[in-house]
Amino acid sequence: MTLPTRVKLVDVGPRDGLQNEKQPVPAAVKVALVQRLQDAGLSEIEVTSFVSPKWVPQMADNAEVMAGITRKPGVRYSVLTPNLQGFEAALKTRPDEIVVFASASEAFSQKNINCSIAESIARFAPVVEAAKAVGIYVRGAMSCTVGCPYEGEVAPERVDYLAGLMRGIGVQHVGVADTIGVGTPLKVQRALEATLKHYDLNDVSGHFHDTYGQALANTLISLQMGVWQFDTSVAGLGGCPYAKGATGNVATEDVVYLLHGMGIDTGIDLDQLIDAGQFISDFLQRKPNSRAATALLNKRAA
Ligand code: HMG
Ligand code: MG
Repeated sequence: MTLPTRVKLVDVGPRDGLQNEKQPVPAAVKVALVQRLQDAGLSEIEVTSFVSPKWVPQMADNAEVMAGITRKPGVRYSVLTPNLQGFEAALKTRPDEIVVFASASEAFSQKNINCSIAESIARFAPVVEAAKAVGIYVRGAMSCTVGCPYEGEVAPERVDYLAGLMRGIGVQHVGVADTIGVGTPLKVQRALEATLKHYDLNDVSGHFHDTYGQALANTLISLQMGVWQFDTSVAGLGGCPYAKGATGNVATEDVVYLLHGMGIDTGIDLDQLIDAGQFISDFLQRKPNSRAATALLNKRAA
């Protein structure tokens, strides 16, 4: 077992975290959150998504948020683009990376992006080509790699199939997502192994929602497989509007605590990260959904 010595975390809080919020979150608050994340040392931030505002109203201010951020050298700012229309709108805002997102289950593909898996790949192909032509890195998100809110358990063969399709259209990196947080370590391991048939270890990340409290265990088994990139969400914000009942991604604070405790470097200042989580949680009028943040905030208060 060789654990990575350094891990890259992509904070998806501004996008995955906030997309599901019913109350409007002003663009200025999103911009301030991005600022706090980069100040805390995050080197990649998933800022927003260029999806239909009818489907996800919270992301309708995508261009305003991208225009509002102050870019820090060395930080990559990524956005979701489900089709050419989204890509063209995103391009004007100069993202460093775009994310095309598909599902390993047919039913979730239909519910989330209104098309089949095969249709989604056909839509992404010209997006991938256009992005690469202008030097924008293309990441892919693979939803429902262990379980689907509509179909139940998802077999690794489905992940194998999807990863092969993503590779086939030139997606450069894929995230293995447990969209509804039902995965346990051996199932996640199988989904990762299926993906690794098509992608190098350096081009695969984990994206674990924490609905059943398994995300840290799933992160640990991924680390043991050598995976060193993860999507996490500050204050454990989030969920997907088309995956009812699913809670947020594993909290960035909890993963940073885990990694630093294991002597693995992240480049992130946990105290400043906790401040970022506190900032957005105060705005949303709730407590950070992070055990490490709660413990450290209690310690600060004592
Ligand atoms: P559609 O209705 O099939 O699209 O939606 P369409 O091409 O038929 O167009 C219909 C209307 O949408 C038109 O407007 C288009 O202009 C507009 P109208 O003429 O009716 O006024 N439209 C757009 N507007 C803005 N930006 C666009 C865009 N495309 C079309 N890009 C579509 C298809 C994909 C757009 C829709 O289903 C959609 O927006 N879905 C949102 C899905 C989403 O954002 N889900 C959450 C993110 S994924 C996620 O959270 C999972 C992840 O975290 C990993 C994991 O955990 O699993 C990544
Ligand atoms: Mg997600």
